[in-house]
Parts: sequence; structure tokens; C-alpha cells
Amino acid sequence: MQQRVTAPVIAASKGGRKLSMVTAYDYSSALLADEAGLDMILVGDSLAMVVLGHDDTLSVTMDEMLHHVRAVSRGAKRALVVADMPFMSYHAGVDDAVANAGRFLKEAGARAVKVEGAGAMLPKIAAMTGAQIPVLGHLGLTPQSIARMGGFKVQARTAEAAGMLTADALALVEAGCFAIVLEAVPAAVAAEVTRAAPVPTIGIGAGPGCDGQVLVYHDILGLYDKLRPKFAKRYAELGLASREALERYKAEVESGAFPGPEHSFAMLAGEEAKLRETDR
Ligand code: KIV
Repeated sequence: MQQRVTAPVIAASKGGRKLSMVTAYDYSSALLADEAGLDMILVGDSLAMVVLGHDDTLSVTMDEMLHHVRAVSRGAKRALVVADMPFMSYHAGVDDAVANAGRFLKEAGARAVKVEGAGAMLPKIAAMTGAQIPVLGHLGLTPQSIARMGGFKVQARTAEAAGMLTADALALVEAGCFAIVLEAVPAAVAAEVTRAAPVPTIGIGAGPGCDGQVLVYHDILGLYDKLRPKFAKRYAELGLASREALERYKAEVESGAFPGPEHSFAMLAGEEAKLRETDR
């Protein structure tokens, strides 16, 4: 039995080998990510877009997230499963935030949650970590703030904004975060935050200076085309391969080439002859 990756193991790996994280939303993809040896699996609220077909992440609910986190937890035997807290599940108040975060560990098998932002979120994050719930922070482009930010835009492009980002990262550490995702910020800024923060930074569109990287499963495998951010490197074209396979299946059904004898069942010895007999 392999040793499970835990939040303390991730926190302690600062400055060591690079950490790998991928999103997953169901049992089969979690199993693949786990077998591939990824350190962390994030059940991202990006599932609103890549799985449920919404234009942004705002509408996904606690119940939908819980459903997918349960499936991922069944597939992940070793990787740390992190549940993304959906929009408005931690914004309104500290009690709500802690109760909702707790549900992911208690009812769905996650071993950490992810929360976007600092500022007004800090008391909620401190309360979660105080309740023994490991929290992964998320700064830079925070998609749940899309209405305020006016779109999916690169953040912290000025020296002043970079300074504020570093201050936010240190505030997240103070609130107890075991690691911090940095999304869509200039590489030099992410490297600076990584130098300043005593916990690992996990970059997505944040250059090579972070302590680890995270990408969306559907982006890595070429399964989602609606949005193709510059940082989302494709390692396979499974969308194309899947469509070709489905087209071949349709053609073989229509031509009668499928199913062949190797896909069909035989009756017990002598029974087919009896069947023909009764037909006469
Ligand atoms: O929801 C998500 O997939 C994320 C990652 C992009 C970090 O938050």
C-alpha cells in the first residue's frame, strides 16, 4: 500500500521536488491521475464549464460539487484530494464557510478544500484551518471574481499589484493555508511570491518559478475547445480521437460490421437446433 499524500506532506515539500496537480471530476479520471502518480487531484469548480457546459464557474452548487468529489475520492488511492469550494459557499459568513468546508471532508472523502481570494476571505479561511480543515489558497486570476474582474484576465502586471499579491499570499499563510495556487500572473511575479511564501505555490499560467503546477484535465487531454488559454499545454488530442472512434462505431453499426461473432453470445450446445425445430 502506497503512502497517502497529505496536506502536511505538501506543505513540507517547499523547496524540494516540483509538485504535480491535475483536476478530475469522476472516478475513472481520478483513477488515471492517481495511477500516473500525480501528487494532488483538484475537484475544481471548473467542472461547471468542462463537464456541465456553463460559460463560467459561478453556477455550480454544493450538491453538484459533493457528488463529483465523492466519485473522485473513490478513484484516488494515494493522491491528496482537494475539493474546490463553489461560489457563495464560503462568502456569506464564517459559520457557513466552516460547515460547507466540513461537508467535503465528512461526506465526500476530500482531505482539503480550496478557497479563492484573501481580504474578506481571511477570517473564513482561519476558521476552517482552526476547525482542522486543510485549506489551499488561490490568488491571481480567481474565476469566481469574474464579474468584478470583467473577464478571465491576467492579474498583477504592475509592481504595485505584484506587491499586493505577495502581501495577500503572506496573509493566507498567516491564516493557515498549506499551499497557494497562483493563476494567470506574470512569471516574475509568481517567482517573487514563491520566494516570499514559506508554503508551496502551485502555478497555472504563472511560469516555471512556482513550487508546482496544476492544469485542467480536459485541457491536458484536448477534451475541451471552448476556451484555450495560452498556458494550457495539450499532451494529447483525445477529443479528436474520441470523435473519430464514435464515427467509426456509427459507420460499423450502419454497415452491419459491428457486432461481429467475437462480440456475440452462443446458445448452449444443441439448443440452437431445438430453437430452429420449434420455428418450423
Ligand atoms: O477549478 C479549477 O479547475 C481551478 C484550477 C484552474 C486551479 O481552480
